Amino acid sequence: MKHLSKLAGLFLLAFLVSCGGKEEKKEKDGFQYDRTKKTESSTSSDSNDIVLVSDDLMKFNKAEIKVKAGKKVKLTLKHIGKLDKKIMGHNFVLLAEGVDLVDFATEAATARDNEYIPENSSDVIAHTKLIGGGETDVIEFDAPAPGVYEFICSFPGHYGLMQGKFIVE
Ligand code: CO
Repeated sequence: MKHLSKLAGLFLLAFLVSCGGKEEKKEKDGFQYDRTKKTESSTSSDSNDIVLVSDDLMKFNKAEIKVKAGKKVKLTLKHIGKLDKKIMGHNFVLLAEGVDLVDFATEAATARDNEYIPENSSDVIAHTKLIGGGETDVIEFDAPAPGVYEFICSFPGHYGLMQGKFIVE
């Protein structure tokens, strides 16, 4: 009898171990899934010629833009979706150093008559116009001083997904 319960104990142990193993695999799969969801993270260019693509899924194709200091930046914003700018409008807004992203986006959301750019704001280094599906806007501006800046789409509710780092080096 004593021997039998020992066997049952071993069996239970083996069962627990196999369950634990299953859980571990699940976690690993989840991690791999997240990695494939990551957007293109970095773009480096000598010519400071940047193409930023947005879509109907409220996303930019870049989370990081790198440019060289002391040169002009030419930035092309494309919207490859189909939705109207009133529903899925996108812009590129480059924020000055030290500007709080959430504070700015909250203020910008109230500036509907000015395409969600607060008027006379010193918080903005450069911005495109607001575009909808199938549209493109091109802007040129002087690269700011070397440093790390933030860019967003200031359409209400978009900055959570549509933001990234603008690195001047
Ligand atoms: Co947007």
